[in-house]
Amino acid sequence: GFDIGKLRAETGLVTLDAGYGNTAGVKSAITYLDGEQGILRYRGYPIEQVAERGNFLETAYLLINGELPTVDELAGFQTEISQHTMLHEDVKRFYDGFPRDAHPMAMLSSVVSALSTFYQDSHNPFDEEQRHISTIRLLAKLPTIAAYAYKKAIGHPVVYPRNDLGYVENFLQMTFSVPAEKYELDPVVASALDKLLILHADHEQNCSTSTVRLVGSSQANMFASISAGISALWGPLHGGANQAVLEMLEQIQRDGGDVDSFIRKVKNKEDGVRLMGFGHRVYKSFDPRAKIIKDAAHQVLSALGKSDELLDIALKLEEHALQDDYFVSRNLYPNVDFYTGLIYRAMGFPTSMFTVLFAMGRLPGWIAQWHEMIKEPGSRIGRPRQIYTGVVERDYVPVEQR
Ligand code: ACO
Repeated sequence: GFDIGKLRAETGLVTLDAGYGNTAGVKSAITYLDGEQGILRYRGYPIEQVAERGNFLETAYLLINGELPTVDELAGFQTEISQHTMLHEDVKRFYDGFPRDAHPMAMLSSVVSALSTFYQDSHNPFDEEQRHISTIRLLAKLPTIAAYAYKKAIGHPVVYPRNDLGYVENFLQMTFSVPAEKYELDPVVASALDKLLILHADHEQNCSTSTVRLVGSSQANMFASISAGISALWGPLHGGANQAVLEMLEQIQRDGGDVDSFIRKVKNKEDGVRLMGFGHRVYKSFDPRAKIIKDAAHQVLSALGKSDELLDIALKLEEHALQDDYFVSRNLYPNVDFYTGLIYRAMGFPTSMFTVLFAMGRLPGWIAQWHEMIKEPGSRIGRPRQIYTGVVERDYVPVEQR
């Protein structure tokens, strides 16, 4: 077959592919994505079925282990996770050190990275037992880390995990319960959040996942690799888009709800304004997750008895954009983030927590991809090349002669 390495050695040729739009750096058996037809499958199961019939921990098990769990396997997985939800008490002091208005994504990546200081027994990526315990710890502790970040922001005491509750239910009680008050879990919120986490659980070699793989390819431990992935997710062109969408809708509302003039600004590329929550590197017809989420947004809002003027603005923006040649000719459709913020807002989350919820959803995907990378025989350190455009060569002039 064709050997690109040999060709490069013989000719010095390097492929320039800005943003890796057409470069596969890995072979992967986890997630299948067909951007032309809007198809997404986890381990072969269509996303529509996984979201409809599965729950988040089952999905995590599927992504990481390759097969759906049996009843016993799922029970064992859930029990093991529920036994690792506590954070070391010293971790609370990290939160004391952060400013009150710190972005929760910054706290999330810092604390996840700091887990490697507490679990120094899990630094060897080639030890299967260590990989397993790091996986369980991360899945178990990320909701606690996220809920503590929220409590920090609102100045409330942290609420400890409750291991008699399900994964999402426990997260909701750590986030929204207040020690002095009776907390009643809303099953509509719990089931909608579970579904949203499933829809975010993996998306093959996106920016954050590629980051996790790149860091992991140097054989850095799983906590370090995932922490880097969280940082990559934070940006507004990636997971940060869900926060950016809501801020955009609020801005349009403040400006009197004039959708037409906002679209005009986007089309004229004024100040680099984009229609946030629209467009995708791979999906060029529609994002199948966005379809499911749009329906969920209507259901959740009506089940919670909430109407939201921002939803009306979002619907108008979508309707307008789908008929406008600027968006049609560039294949720009709503992506997963266009409607999620509206649901999170209806659930009571502040805007700054939206990307944290994305991170909780994406965690199993990052872990599965990290495992796949480490186990791949002959896997190599990630090390892209470049096309050098600087000065070819010049003589060094001592500072006093410059
Ligand atoms: N609004 C307006 N114009 C857009 C948008 C948008 N949301 N997205 C792309 N375009 C335009 C670009 O300006 C460019 O136009 P040009 O040909 O006139 O120069 C053309 O469409 C192609 O855009 P690229 O930036 O080359 O597309 P790329 O594949 O690199 O970017 C991305 C994909 C980052 C998702 C982009 O569509 C975007 O910025 N969207 C808004 C942010 C967003 O919603 N991100 C979430 C992505 S999904 C996720 O991470 C979960």
